[in-house]
This record gives sequence, structure tokens and C-alpha cells, in this order.
Amino acid sequence: MANSNLSNAKSAKNDEFYTQYHDIEKEINAYIEYNPDVFRNKTVLLPCDDPEWSNFTKFFAQNFEQFGLKKLISTSYAADSKKYKIPYQPSLFEVNDPQFDYNKTTTHGKIFTLDHDKSGDGKVDVNDLEWHYLKGDGDFNSDEIKKLRDEADIIITNPPFSLFRDFLAWIVEADKQFVIIGNMNAITYKEVFPLIKSDKMWLGNGFHAGNAYFSTLFAKEYAEGVYNPETGLVKFRNVCWFTNLDHGRRHKPLGLMPMADNLKYSKHKEIQGKESYDHYDNYDAIEVPFTDAIPSDYEGAMGVPISFLDKYSPEQFEIVGITDRDDNSGLKIKEYTERDAPNHGDLNRRGAIKIGNEYKSTYARLLIRKKLK
Ligand SMILES: C[S@@+](CC[C@H](N)C(=O)[O-])C[C@H]1O[C@@H](n2cnc3c(N)ncnc32)[C@H](O)[C@@H]1O
Repeated sequence: MANSNLSNAKSAKNDEFYTQYHDIEKEINAYIEYNPDVFRNKTVLLPCDDPEWSNFTKFFAQNFEQFGLKKLISTSYAADSKKYKIPYQPSLFEVNDPQFDYNKTTTHGKIFTLDHDKSGDGKVDVNDLEWHYLKGDGDFNSDEIKKLRDEADIIITNPPFSLFRDFLAWIVEADKQFVIIGNMNAITYKEVFPLIKSDKMWLGNGFHAGNAYFSTLFAKEYAEGVYNPETGLVKFRNVCWFTNLDHGRRHKPLGLMPMADNLKYSKHKEIQGKESYDHYDNYDAIEVPFTDAIPSDYEGAMGVPISFLDKYSPEQFEIVGITDRDDNSGLKIKEYTERDAPNHGDLNRRGAIKIGNEYKSTYARLLIRKKLK
């Protein structure tokens, strides 16, 4: 079976996934549509990039004037520091530049900046980018890049997937606006979930039909169905944009049916014909296994799939917690012991449903509640 999950062993080593231009365009346009001035007079930093050919750098440089940017900064990570060793060849752009330094090309990161019309052609665009070698390798955690972070208003990138937690913490500690790509499973991380719960971070507008395509040198290592030999791209279903910039889709409420109608007409056989929704044995909440089966008229807490977040509107629902080992929601009403079940440890990690004398564990669930007007 095709494994479209980013957390497989191969991809855990590989941080080299390059974002497609139209995916960046689609995402960023959603913020512009919601607030045409979102980037006006702002300094945008694109770290963990490869500015010579990155679509992030290209996109923001091309739209510099239209977005009203003050400054664009883009930095790369030195080839020798990358975890996954890739055959390195300096670009012609670099080699043909008088600054080219054979000793620095693999050991130093690069910085590209754009803030004025260098070429004198009357506009500020991709031709006005200026570059030099960084003092260090471009590690986002270095003092050199931290200084750029502190100078920036908005940080935008597809960070190394293996360092997602650290990268997010790096942004949060500087209290910056951001738009970054990550694995949807990150929502459940204990460093990440509190941001979601307190509405300090949410999902972005999203990849087209939920499919994120990337180019990667190791594409062929992926299974058929993930790697497409025709496009040369890999496709992941569990990758999304995380942000704290607002966009319109976030304020569109989900169209839902009342509980009685779900029980009668739901397209899901797990719901249709039941007398009631299952109530967890260990949480004061009902189990709703599908986002489109959330009852519109239920006022208690509900456990819903993590993917609900993609449809979450803060005016419609509040997020009260996540089913986890801790009681981050205040809704946990029971801790199992060996006397209850041999797999009590597993049961305590999730919402459990009691069927007769047996317990059934559910997937990780977000605990939500209808927002009362
Ligand atoms: C997922 S790729 C995305 C590249 C580019 N932003 C894009 O979307 O096309 C992440 C990049 O971060 C680089 N990287 C890995 N560790 C890093 C670190 N500690 N500091 C900065 N960049 C890093 C990787 O080598 C890789 O090129």
C-alpha cells in the first residue's frame, strides 16, 4: 500500500522537500484576499530556503511591490551541514558572481535581500536581489539567523520536517507572525497543541484538495502513489500550513445537521440507525468519529477527528482539549488501572468506549464544544 505518511523511516532522514510555486501562491493569496495590507511595510524572512531557486523567494520577490513589502530576506543552509547529503553543485548564478568563494560555497549559508531598485529599471523585483555568504552555515538556531528573525515581522517557509517543534518554538519565543508548512500530526505534540487550543495558531487556507506536492531528490525512494514519475513530485496527504495570520476560510462555519437528523440520515453507517452517539467512558464527552457528523445542536463536549481543525471556525466552536495522557481539558473522568483492563496504559492515552465489559480505544480526538452566542 502506498505510504503517504510523512513519518515513515525514509522521510524521517530527509528534510529536502521543495515547495511548488502555485501552492505558495494559493496560500499567500488567501491572506491577501482577507487583508490586502497584510504584508504592507513588513519585513518578511524566508529561512531554511535555497534562495537561488526557491519558489518562496521567487514568489515574494516577484510580488514585492504589489504586496507593499518593506524588505525581503531569504537565507539558505550550507550543503555540508545538511543531514541528508546531496550531490552539491554551486549554481551558475553563484559561480559567475565575483563574490564566488570555493571555500565557502559548501560550508556557509547564503543570504539574499531585497529592499530597493538596484537595477534602476524603475521597479523592485527578483532582479534586484542582493546576496552574500553568511558568516555561519545558516542554521536557524544560530545567533546570526536569530538576529534576522528578530528584525522580521513575518516568517514564512517550509521548515525541515524533522525540526518542526524546534522551529515553531523558535518563532514563538520571538512572538512573530508566521506561515509555515508542517505535518498535521504535529497538532497532537505537547508543545504545539496549547497554541492551537488558545487560538494562537491555526491551519492555513490549505493545499489544493489536501494534497501537498513537493520535489525532492529522493522522490524515487517513495512508494508508487506517493512518487509520481510523470511529474517527478511526491504527494503527501498529511501536510498542512500552520499560521497565525487570518484568512477567510477560517470564518466560514461548517454546515451541519442536528443530532436527530444525523442518527436518521447520516451517510456514515457508524452513526445512521444508532439510538445515540457513544459517550466516552473516561471523558465527559461524546465520540464523533467524522467531522461532517458533528451534531449542530449538541451543547456538551465532543471528541472529533484531528482533521476537524481544517474546518474549524472559532466563531462556531471552541477547542477545549485533546484526548491525551494528561487532562488538558478538565473533561477526563476516569484513569484505568490494571484491574480494569490489561491495556489500561493505552486506554488512558485516548478516549475509551465501554461495550459490555470491554473497552474500545479511539483515535486521538480534539475535544470541542459549540460556541454559545
Ligand atoms: C523542507 S525543506 C524546504 C526548502 C524550501 N523552504 C522550500 O520549501 O522549497 C527544508 C530546508 O531546511 C534545511 N535545513 C535543515 N536543517 C536546518 C537548520 N537547522 N537550519 C536551517 N535550515 C535547515 C534543509 O536542508 C532544507 O533545505
